[in-house]
Amino acid sequence: MTTLTVNISETPSGSYPIYIDNDDLKELKKKLDEETKERKRLVIFSEKVYKIYGKILDFKKSETFVLKDGEQQKNIKNYEKIIRKCIELKLSRKDMIIAIGGGVVGDMAGFVAATYMRGIKFLQVPTTLLAMVDSSVGGKTAIDMPHGKNFVGAFYQPKAVYINLNFLKTLDEKQYKSGFGEVIKYGFIEKSCQYGEYFNLIKILKENRDKYEKRDNEFLARIIEICLKLKSSVVEKDEKESGLRKILNLGHTFGHALEEETKYKRYTHGYAVVLGLMFIFNYALKNNLCGREYYDEAYTLMSVYGYEPPCFCGINKKRTLNYMKTDKKSDGNTINLIVPVNYGEVTEKTADSVEFDIEYIK
Ligand SMILES: NC(=O)c1ccc[n+]([C@@H]2O[C@H](COP(=O)([O-])OP(=O)(O)OC[C@H]3O[C@@H](n4cnc5c(N)ncnc54)[C@H](O)[C@@H]3O)[C@@H](O)[C@H]2O)c1
Repeated sequence: MTTLTVNISETPSGSYPIYIDNDDLKELKKKLDEETKERKRLVIFSEKVYKIYGKILDFKKSETFVLKDGEQQKNIKNYEKIIRKCIELKLSRKDMIIAIGGGVVGDMAGFVAATYMRGIKFLQVPTTLLAMVDSSVGGKTAIDMPHGKNFVGAFYQPKAVYINLNFLKTLDEKQYKSGFGEVIKYGFIEKSCQYGEYFNLIKILKENRDKYEKRDNEFLARIIEICLKLKSSVVEKDEKESGLRKILNLGHTFGHALEEETKYKRYTHGYAVVLGLMFIFNYALKNNLCGREYYDEAYTLMSVYGYEPPCFCGINKKRTLNYMKTDKKSDGNTINLIVPVNYGEVTEKTADSVEFDIEYIK
């Protein structure tokens, strides 16, 4: 078992633990019971996770809310339903919300916890690789609006994060690969994260493709730990994204725009992020911001992990560009980008929309 700590001085609780293990899930249940002892609780599950693990985890039906699967479910109607469930259960500020599932449930449950009675405590139990390496830590909580993804939200940190590797055994190939999209992103931002130790994540990824294939527990535990150390380092320095935290958005401006343009149906979040990485590496090369050697290395890594530049059939370039301009990080006319410059290093650039073309993807 590994325990990491996220130290955020601005939050009332100051810091919180991340537990990483592969204990029996009955053990996990005991720990969650212990954390919520003498409190009421609402447990919010991803639909598929509830189907597979509902019985083993054995929470009372009355304290459970199952959120249907899909990004489209991260909406205001479901937010209201969950708030009503909190009211029905008479949850008070002493009580607790538990999110068990992927990033969709984590973001939704976190936003409910941030806003119900101006904030009640919540625990993250991430069950997808993407949620384990990224979304369960750092306190970004949100729901989507027709105007854009994560349009309404709050920075609100969990009380603790419980990562259990056993969940990964039932994750389908598409979702597993999606999680690796965010892992690769961490490789490209590693040095900019300003963590005290250097792991050379790009090299680790290059050399361990077979362990990825086998879902080797030791390898996955190491990767999760590295990504979370890098993420915590960034979030601790800039919780509310006024500066450094923007680097975590590498690949996301184009990735989010693609997700919106394709109505969240064509690509998983992590896959869209990798397409965003391809886009931004092309932008960097064309604008002499990164060298050919690093560019080739980055493309090789992405293709070794099976990511290929997509067919853009049916994608409206103008609309996609507009989605990039309406991204929360942009001012409506220009586009703020995080751009790779050197091995594991990125910088922030503001781009004029006319510089852009989807053909940047090779
Ligand atoms: N808050 C943040 O910092 C942050 C960071 C990155 C992404 N996100 C958000 O995360 C969301 C994407 O999360 P995701 O990729 O986890 O997708 P997801 O939550 O939609 O889960 C994907 C699918 O996997 C299923 N699933 C989950 N765990 C499983 C398991 N152990 N076995 C079998 N099936 C399982 C789910 O039921 C769902 O069908 C997006 O909304 C994205 O915006 C948030």
